[in-house]
Amino acid sequence: MRIEIEKHGSKPDMYRSMCLSLNQLIDERGDTVANLANASALINMYLDDISWVGFYLMKDGGLTLGPFQGKVAVTRIEIGDGVCGTAAAGMRTVRVDDVHTCDNHITCDIASSSEIVVPMIKEGDLVGVLDIDSPLPARFDEEDERGLEDAVSVLIRLCPLR
Ligand code: SME
Repeated sequence: MRIEIEKHGSKPDMYRSMCLSLNQLIDERGDTVANLANASALINMYLDDISWVGFYLMKDGGLTLGPFQGKVAVTRIEIGDGVCGTAAAGMRTVRVDDVHTCDNHITCDIASSSEIVVPMIKEGDLVGVLDIDSPLPARFDEEDERGLEDAVSVLIRLCPLR
């Protein structure tokens, strides 16, 4: 499999390239875990200065650890708990510039400084979240938020997530 990683240009250009690559990579008739494993690897190849990228998927009323790249992580997060559970409860993207000042943050890696969590909503239902951590403070801005929401839209469209 050959995927071209286009990282030059503006941040929106980079995210457009990432979405095109996701379109090539995701096998619509393929297995969800296999597709999300490749998606986490692809996002890891595109984004600089991140320490963890992966998915938590809705299972039995909570978020269960799914495919990811990075250090070991907490396996279950209740809705409302942590940054992931907050994004899930509100069904909206949450960006945290400094996790050390965030009361509702679950620490998986003490080197993590900032975080973004994008909910995955399919036909009105929450199916999971995309979570990305960075060792840099305020690593994620509005362009990252838009770009990652676009990437999640591609995944929602192509993956049979329920
Ligand atoms: N920090 C997350 C927990 C998951 S790890 O970052 C991989 C949270 O507060 O929900």
